[in-house]
Amino acid sequence: MFKDQKICFSGVQPSGNLTIGNYLGAIRNFSLYSEQYKTFYCVVDEHAITVRQVPAELRRRTYETLALYMACGLDPEKNTLYVQSHVPEHAELAWILNCYTMYGELSRMTQFKDKSAKHADNINAGLFTYPVLMAADILLYQTDVVPVGIDQKQHVELARDIANRFNSVFPDALTIPEPIISKSGMKIMSLAEPTKKMSKSDENVNAVVYILDDKDTVIRKFRRAVTDSDTCVRFAEGKDGINNLMTIYSCFTGKTMEEIEHEFDGKGYGDFKLAVGEVCADALAPVQARYTELLADKAGLEAQMKRGAEEASYYARRTMSKIRKKIGFVSL
Ligand code: TYM
Repeated sequence: MFKDQKICFSGVQPSGNLTIGNYLGAIRNFSLYSEQYKTFYCVVDEHAITVRQVPAELRRRTYETLALYMACGLDPEKNTLYVQSHVPEHAELAWILNCYTMYGELSRMTQFKDKSAKHADNINAGLFTYPVLMAADILLYQTDVVPVGIDQKQHVELARDIANRFNSVFPDALTIPEPIISKSGMKIMSLAEPTKKMSKSDENVNAVVYILDDKDTVIRKFRRAVTDSDTCVRFAEGKDGINNLMTIYSCFTGKTMEEIEHEFDGKGYGDFKLAVGEVCADALAPVQARYTELLADKAGLEAQMKRGAEEASYYARRTMSKIRKKIGFVSL
């Protein structure tokens, strides 16, 4: 496959307020790739409607997610930032790839099992075929690397399987993507149930630290975080709550687990929780300040959406014209 540049693609759903899990597991790392790759970062609004959304809220969150991308350091001059539904080729390729994806493969997706248990009254076909739309997002840009948190690894692996199957019928059609999982922030856990992923759709707001939480809220949430009956700050099996707090502290300070254990040697959980809250709030403050400025300029965000969609469309159309020909659709 001829390409002048390697491609990096990732996406975030505008389905709730973004959390420090989204930040540490994904968005914070996105800007690392813009030197080495042509980068596409998409606000995946079509994914969000697999569960019911209030239209006005979905629209508002779409603007907010784009603003957060930029506030987290993604420069639109260096990265293509856009909204999925503005590039209709995502949905078009998803349909085609649906015909190259097996029912059994989709049935094995753990996120489908979790989400269908959670939304038992609305197990729609979109929820089931969601990973095919995600594969289309990735494959549409002939993507080489996909930076994601570990919860999305299974979906990227499915995208690889679908691409390989498609290529076995139509040689050289699609690039096979690789997931990139950041080691430190790969899975940030809930503060209330530290064996569960921190998730923007969690109903318990105290289990989740949002990127936009103010300092007092951040500190209060960490103070209430579930830990264990031990008193010693150390990373060990069975200490899920403390392990999670240490991971978060390590992500924000760059310190290793040994350094953190040493720093809090002889101190109690109270001191440690306060320190985690402080480093987290201090890191989020500049993101929040920039976000507020960006969000106030709605016309500026719309101009960015338009520009991003135009840039993305150029690449999307190129892949689609090739795929249509290979499949045997008549081109006019
Ligand atoms: P979404 O919107 O749930 O999450 C966006 C990104 O944040 C990561 N993430 C986490 N990382 C660490 N700890 C956590 N607690 C945590 N929670 C979320 C996710 O792994 C993800 O990288 N299906 C995707 C969106 C998507 C996509 C794509 C991603 C659609 N098309 C194509 C990559 C490529 C999703 O629902 O992510």
